Amino acid sequence: SSPLRLGIAGLGTVGIGVVKIVQKHAGLLAMRSGREVAITAVSARDRMKNRDADLSAYRWEDDPMAVATADDVDLYVELIGGDNGIARDSIQAALRAGKDVVTANKALLAMHGQDLALLAEDLGRVIRFEAAVAGGIPVIKTMTESLAGNDIGRVMGVMNGTCNYILTRMESAGLPYEAVFEEARQLGYLEADPQLDVGGIDASHKLAILSAIAFGTQVDFDAVEIEGIERVSIDDIRRAADMGYRIKLLGVAQMTARGLEQRMSPCLVPADSPLGQLVGGTNMVVLEGDSVGQIVLRGAGAGEGPTASAVLSDIVEIARGVRMAMFGQPASRLKTARPARTAVP
Ligand code: NAP
Ligand code: HSE
Repeated sequence: SSPLRLGIAGLGTVGIGVVKIVQKHAGLLAMRSGREVAITAVSARDRMKNRDADLSAYRWEDDPMAVATADDVDLYVELIGGDNGIARDSIQAALRAGKDVVTANKALLAMHGQDLALLAEDLGRVIRFEAAVAGGIPVIKTMTESLAGNDIGRVMGVMNGTCNYILTRMESAGLPYEAVFEEARQLGYLEADPQLDVGGIDASHKLAILSAIAFGTQVDFDAVEIEGIERVSIDDIRRAADMGYRIKLLGVAQMTARGLEQRMSPCLVPADSPLGQLVGGTNMVVLEGDSVGQIVLRGAGAGEGPTASAVLSDIVEIARGVRMAMFGQPASRLKTARPARTAVP
């Protein structure tokens, strides 16, 4: 059968990771997909930038739109980022040009996931986004496929590795928030806008996406009650430790009698629990289904290899001809949830 031809826009941490896996595992991917998976075109901002992969076999485009709409591209892989602008425009252009789409862009999906899902369905295309939530952890496929026979009661977890690193390091090194924040910056852990991490926004993007899948509701990021980690002090952490607890930036989404509760906030968890034992940049997602009970998924929530691994899972799924609805059911059937707010004003 014909090869699946990829056009990749964004050649940063994740994009280059994808290129490396496609090059390293060409045979494996072809075997698992039943067809060759080949990159035809790539795009990023700076053509002259030194990148950690050989891109000479691929056509370079300065404009991601040219990749998204190229005749020799079947699948557009958007790895630029940003909740608007070129990421959104190029995905819409790709769908209209008859391409399927794979993205890791949680910010975009949290803000515009519903509209993009409707557009894809109208056009008979698919958008897949395993890498958008918890990096290498296969949480989207677990929820949409493996747990399809469950009523999901609650989703919770630690979904931002940077915050987990900061909180863990504050405790282990006895350092104040400001010092560890600076360390994280120097290690390159923080997003270009650090508020996305420490303000709890990035983790809330992910929680909003998981809520939509779990409860069959439209993605509603604005309804997430968010408190970041900026006000967590070393004294808070010491007091929690004295009582046998740790502080984690925990996301919880559950359907209650009052409506859909979505909350992201620093929480006390028992130090000896799986969540309490989570150190460094690792993520953990806990899913509760009425048939399966509780499932705990743990792994690398970010980084080149883990995130690219998740992108490849989507690419292979599409290469195999699997056509999954974005949030586990047609977007036109997703309900509007009544938000249940918990915060005391
Ligand atoms: P990154 O390292 O900053 O890379 C972004 C890439 O996009 C760069 O190659 C950049 O080009 C390119 N780009 C930016 N603006 C562009 C424009 N206007 N036109 C063309 N190319 C443009 O980002 P990343 O960490 O790989 O993240 C990519 C996506 O994956 C984001 O949506 C992010 O949220 C998501 N994600 C990342 C991780 C992670 O661990 N990094 C994990 C999960 C999800 P230049 O290289 O030329 O500057
Ligand atoms: N800034 C994010 C984190 C990157 O620290 O988890 C992965 O989404």
